[in-house]
Amino acid sequence: MLKLLVLGVLLHGVSLSGQDESPPKAEGIPGEPLFDYASIRLPEEHIPFFLHNNRHIATVCKKDARCPYKKHLENLKYCWGYEKSCKPEFRFGYPVCTHVDMGWTDTLESAQDIFWKQADFGYVGERLEEMRVLCQPKETHDSSLVCSRYLQYCRAVNLYLDLRNIKRNHDRFKEDFLQSGEIGGHCALDARALVSQGQRKSPLQSWFAELQSYTQLSFRPLEDAKCDIVIEKPAYFMKLDAGVNMYHHFCDFINLYITQHVNNSFGTDVYIVMWDTDGKIRVTILARSTEYRKILNQNELVNALKTVSTLEVQIVDYKYKELGFLDQLQITHNTDIFIGMHGAGLTHLLFLPDWAAVFELYNCEDERCYLDLARLRGVHYVTWRRQNKVFPQDKGHHPTLGEHPKFTNYSFDVEEFMYLVLQAADHVLQHPKWPFRKKHDEL
Ligand SMILES: *[C@@H]1O[C@H](CO)[C@@H](O)[C@H](O)[C@H]1NC(C)=O
Ligand SMILES: *[C@@H]1O[C@H](CO)[C@@H](O)[C@H](O)[C@H]1NC(C)=O
Repeated sequence: MLKLLVLGVLLHGVSLSGQDESPPKAEGIPGEPLFDYASIRLPEEHIPFFLHNNRHIATVCKKDARCPYKKHLENLKYCWGYEKSCKPEFRFGYPVCTHVDMGWTDTLESAQDIFWKQADFGYVGERLEEMRVLCQPKETHDSSLVCSRYLQYCRAVNLYLDLRNIKRNHDRFKEDFLQSGEIGGHCALDARALVSQGQRKSPLQSWFAELQSYTQLSFRPLEDAKCDIVIEKPAYFMKLDAGVNMYHHFCDFINLYITQHVNNSFGTDVYIVMWDTDGKIRVTILARSTEYRKILNQNELVNALKTVSTLEVQIVDYKYKELGFLDQLQITHNTDIFIGMHGAGLTHLLFLPDWAAVFELYNCEDERCYLDLARLRGVHYVTWRRQNKVFPQDKGHHPTLGEHPKFTNYSFDVEEFMYLVLQAADHVLQHPKWPFRKKHDEL
């Protein structure tokens, strides 16, 4: 059985009756199509099926001299199979069973029907039939929440999320991640209907754990300016089955694809948010694009870091022409362990969170510079400790001073590197301000 795990969330400015909007009246100025056909993002052979289900676009296409899909307008009887208007003989496909196996069922017809509903477009049809409004909008810019049974699939508009006090821990899908008041909308909530959908509450089968605290807000998040960030682009929230291998990750792609069908939208200008409440330690490696102090075996070090599942690793190069200063600050401020070679870029340690550690991979015999800066800022400082486990490329070439340790590149012993990173990670985990800290002694 497929599990539908995607919560399509639309925020702000999206008409609730998207599909019923009347098409533009104009006949189309040559050179300018009446619709952004490229936004459909489906293979050509799927276009008739899409147009069947989106008659308003077919109507526009008929009028529009620039529509590239005119030839498909004669084939509008073709359909995916889940539409109410779909005649079985025109559906995209239907399973064919030649024998019945293993006692699932005893007739070929019912075997086909089961397959259709569990592993084919019939699955979409069932979800569509279950759709129920849980939070009803009253005015144009109100929120809404519509879900299929057991909240396997939900669609929210103008969803309000308050992530200021999130309490993460080491669960991938922490069930009480969102507390009352932290998720909701300005709409009339049917609290009984919502509560009645809780039977399948579990990490991967339902969004009940996340939505059970959905509250009817007394304010309007946008008009009353209660949000500091407004996300306007359509966004999918997904819980990944697992990205570790093709089999499991395919489940995720299938879920996303089914969700596109359930929402009848195939655009790719969307956000996909991987829902994960695990408090990973965020490691940022500051790469250098200068001629000196390069980490020669950077890939090897990064691959070693990636074997530790509690670390989330990214490599950055703070070149202001490519990455604006504000973006640099944002990355630094969302880093728990900041790793870099001796160099001006380490000044970024000033903007690390209080619980962070900075790892000056190698100080090139300039021992006090960033050690002192880290001390003044109040973040933990780690540096290389064993001279026999760091390997300079050569003795260094200062333009005028001759040999100089700051003017060459280095490789590092991987085991020693990992030891030091894990020590820094321990510091983060133990820090009283680390937001995802397990509170062992709470009682
Ligand atoms: C879902 O469909 C609506 C209505 O057509 C559309 O506005 C929205 O962008 C779609 N959501 C996603 C995540 O694509
Ligand atoms: C260090 O690496 C850079 C980039 O690969 C290279 O241009 C430079 O010559 C290297 N320096 C030394 C001293 O080998």
